[in-house]
Amino acid sequence: PHALVVAIDGPSGSGKSSTSRGVAARLGLRYLDTGAMYRAMTWWMLRAGIDVHDAGAVAHRVDEARIESGTDPLGPTITVDGVDVAEAIRGEDVTGSVSPVSAVPEVRARLLQLQRDIIADGVRHGGIVVEGRDIGSVVVPDAPVKVYLTADANARALRRAAEEGGSDVTATEASLLARDKIDSGRAVSPLVMAEGAVHIDTTPYSLVEVVDQVVALVEAVE
Ligand code: C5P
Repeated sequence: PHALVVAIDGPSGSGKSSTSRGVAARLGLRYLDTGAMYRAMTWWMLRAGIDVHDAGAVAHRVDEARIESGTDPLGPTITVDGVDVAEAIRGEDVTGSVSPVSAVPEVRARLLQLQRDIIADGVRHGGIVVEGRDIGSVVVPDAPVKVYLTADANARALRRAAEEGGSDVTATEASLLARDKIDSGRAVSPLVMAEGAVHIDTTPYSLVEVVDQVVALVEAVE
């Protein structure tokens, strides 16, 4: 069997995490949330007192954070220096600082290396679903299945606000759009639809329907 990697990219709140975990659970594959790794790096930088808008300062410290990701789709884990940060990385402070940290080339180079190791291990265990912004374009450009998920900004904000326990939809939408703008405009590995990716606009579909569509794409290449 070939190296089964399912690359799922798209903007914030497009349904990447729920879809990716659903597909991995359904097909018995591993799962990697690369956004959680960028968030974990951001959490470390904030805790170290580093100005996240000072790219030089961020670049200087990237090698110090020890980030580890668990790849079970039913209970993915993320630790930094052995500390479980799964909840902390969803806080407003991290969300507000993750895009500038992610735009620093040294951060991307370091996490790319970690991601490729985890993906190689996932492939050895039968395959892996990987979600992020640059998976199909940069991390695994030869992935046999590439999906680009989008949804209307308002639908994305509604979902994200519900996930966050009822935060303000207008503010959530503004925060999503601000992150999209930085993520799409950065020089290194911007958010783009990768060559060969299948675009799914999830706005009219339920989660199960989107999972079904992606599972069908995977079954078509197997
Ligand atoms: O997916 P999530 O919203 O948790 O990602 C948080 C941030 O991490 C994104 O806004 C983006 O700045 C960054 N990211 C990235 N490349 C990836 C995954 C996430 O730059 N592959």
